[in-house]
Amino acid sequence: MILNNDVERILIGEEQINEKVKELAQRIDRDYANSGKKLLLLGILKGSVVFMGDLMKQITHPIEIDFMKVSSYGSGTKTTGNVNIILDLYRKDLPNTDVLIVEDIVDSGRTLSYLCNYLSLKGAASVKTVTLLDKPERREVDFNPDYTGFVVPDEFVIGYGLDYDEQYRALPYVGILKPSAYQK
Ligand code: IMP
Ligand code: MG
Repeated sequence: MILNNDVERILIGEEQINEKVKELAQRIDRDYANSGKKLLLLGILKGSVVFMGDLMKQITHPIEIDFMKVSSYGSGTKTTGNVNIILDLYRKDLPNTDVLIVEDIVDSGRTLSYLCNYLSLKGAASVKTVTLLDKPERREVDFNPDYTGFVVPDEFVIGYGLDYDEQYRALPYVGILKPSAYQK
């Protein structure tokens, strides 16, 4: 594997990710097998796209996909847990749909905590979350994903969908940036 010049080290390699994605897909298949509702994988743009693409191929249960785009207010003075919805979800069949939100990483927890509440209010039959990565040390609200790939330390990670300033999303692994890359 040729390391990107800006990457300090690989935190989670391709093989490890592939194995984990298969394991998550098997758990999801098992848990939704007898639901009787539609299963909707709802990817949160843009960070989830690589994980979403791999995960959906490994799930054998019939699925539909959709996307939402949100931006969080950041960790300023707001403590409402609100996020801005940039691309909303418009579906009439939510009461007959199990929504599984697909996210790259849970950090403060604000995005997913808000979205779970939002989709429940919109009338989804059920709302659950699957995240590739979780940084529990950073949590600001009480939120736990239903399915987690890897718990990671409080370091900024990139690759496999995750970006720094829109770069590095296409790296096939999750890595930690060299400090010099932040100064670019
Ligand atoms: P939160 O859980 O609402 O704080 O937001 C999580 C979002 O912050 C993720 O969807 C990412 O877009 C972004 N994020 C948090 N930590 C990282 C990181 O280490 N690398 C890249 N993006 C991150
Ligand atoms: Mg994101």
